[in-house]
Amino acid sequence: MKTKDYHRPSRSSEKHKTRKTPGTRPGTAGRRSQSLPVLEAQHHGPEGAHLAAALHTPDHGGLEGTHGFHPYPGRFHPHLPRTLLAAWKERQGGAPQTVLDPFMGGGTTLVEAMTAGLPALGSDLNPVAQLVAAERTRRRTPAQARQLAAHAHHLAAQVEALRRDKSPPRLNHPAIRRLAPHYVPHLFAELAQWMRLIDLEPPGPQRDSLRAVFSALAVKFSNRESDSSGEDRPVAYPKGAVSRFFTLKCAQLAQAQAALDKQCLAAGNPPAPRLLADDARLLTHLEWGEAHVILTSPPYPGTYHYLEHHRLRMDWLGLDPSPLEQGEIGAGKFPQGKSGGQPQLAEPRWQTDLAQSLSAMARVLKPGGRAWLVLGDWLAPGPNGPLPVDGAQALMELAQKGGWKTGSWASVKRPVYVPGEAQAYGERGKWEHLVELER
Ligand SMILES: C[S@@+](CC[C@H](N)C(=O)[O-])C[C@H]1O[C@@H](n2cnc3c(N)ncnc32)[C@H](O)[C@@H]1O
Repeated sequence: MKTKDYHRPSRSSEKHKTRKTPGTRPGTAGRRSQSLPVLEAQHHGPEGAHLAAALHTPDHGGLEGTHGFHPYPGRFHPHLPRTLLAAWKERQGGAPQTVLDPFMGGGTTLVEAMTAGLPALGSDLNPVAQLVAAERTRRRTPAQARQLAAHAHHLAAQVEALRRDKSPPRLNHPAIRRLAPHYVPHLFAELAQWMRLIDLEPPGPQRDSLRAVFSALAVKFSNRESDSSGEDRPVAYPKGAVSRFFTLKCAQLAQAQAALDKQCLAAGNPPAPRLLADDARLLTHLEWGEAHVILTSPPYPGTYHYLEHHRLRMDWLGLDPSPLEQGEIGAGKFPQGKSGGQPQLAEPRWQTDLAQSLSAMARVLKPGGRAWLVLGDWLAPGPNGPLPVDGAQALMELAQKGGWKTGSWASVKRPVYVPGEAQAYGERGKWEHLVELER
């Protein structure tokens, strides 16, 4: 079966060559919330130009406020939800419209809904996503923000004292054997002391924030090259580095949360988002027609493996990986080898999972509501090596089968920095898509 090329301009689609901007850090793959240059753009349908504007992320910025708090992989650039939600709100005459992100990840959509003054619902099977989204949407008064920053300093002094202590308390973290090999000893000892002190904190927002900050630093101080890479690298952080970063990160987070509070007050003081741990294929905690609009980016085949990216964090924090183990969509690599001489359009399991998620979304979305989904292209095995799959086409075919109307979409060509991948995508390149579905 030949893959239809959605990127060839049709009569009703417009194609624009746009400026090339200097690349971001080479050697990284996948989706990031940092700005990525747009090499070429296309759009289709009545809302296409507006969707394309949302995909045209600015050259700089995007990690301001709580957005910069955590390196959760696969994040939206905040410009995308900001653009879409502002226009949606205006079109609805400012009436409160509930926004749902069923694959909320680090919660970018929810933060942007809050600052637009909209009620929001978010869900993710990953317990780390729940921790991060809760933190990125937490509002603190300036006094509460100062309290968190001061408390982090107080804990850092205790960790520093323990570091100098000739006979510090024994480290007895339950996952110590699994965790220790991922760190150089002095950084592991420092992290373990922080975790021990955090575990002694009384339950409440302060403890939750400290756990979230810990999760933001757990990979940074490991031997792992990055969040989305299993490669090792040499680590050169000196003694005391964990505590320095910890206190800095707490102060920055507290400040960003106080700024978020101010923005929310100015936007009409929306309710705190409701965060769920639902499987997107079922959305069991949501009622029929509960959302007015859905804005999300589902995982796509073989791109990220959220369970593997977050294992270290889950081990440190004692989070249960089993929901993600059982239900993660799109995880892992394609099976090696040939696929019957034909390119696979998409991993069959992913198609079933996404079809189920689309049907759960159709149930919880009010009639007349919109769903915006962001998806990239991916590589599937072909007879002579990997072949690019058009993410927009794969999504729209599934959506149409599920009874959705597919009116408008926009696509932008992004640079591919990984040499092997660049070759596989060839001249056609790798595209990111924003598809609008109607109920
Ligand atoms: C591309 S990320 C979303 C990132 C998000 N847009 C942001 O800006 O942070 C996809 C998310 O889907 C989650 N996920 C994977 N399978 C899931 C399932 N069956 N139900 C709910 N969430 C799932 C992953 O844990 C991951 O957080």
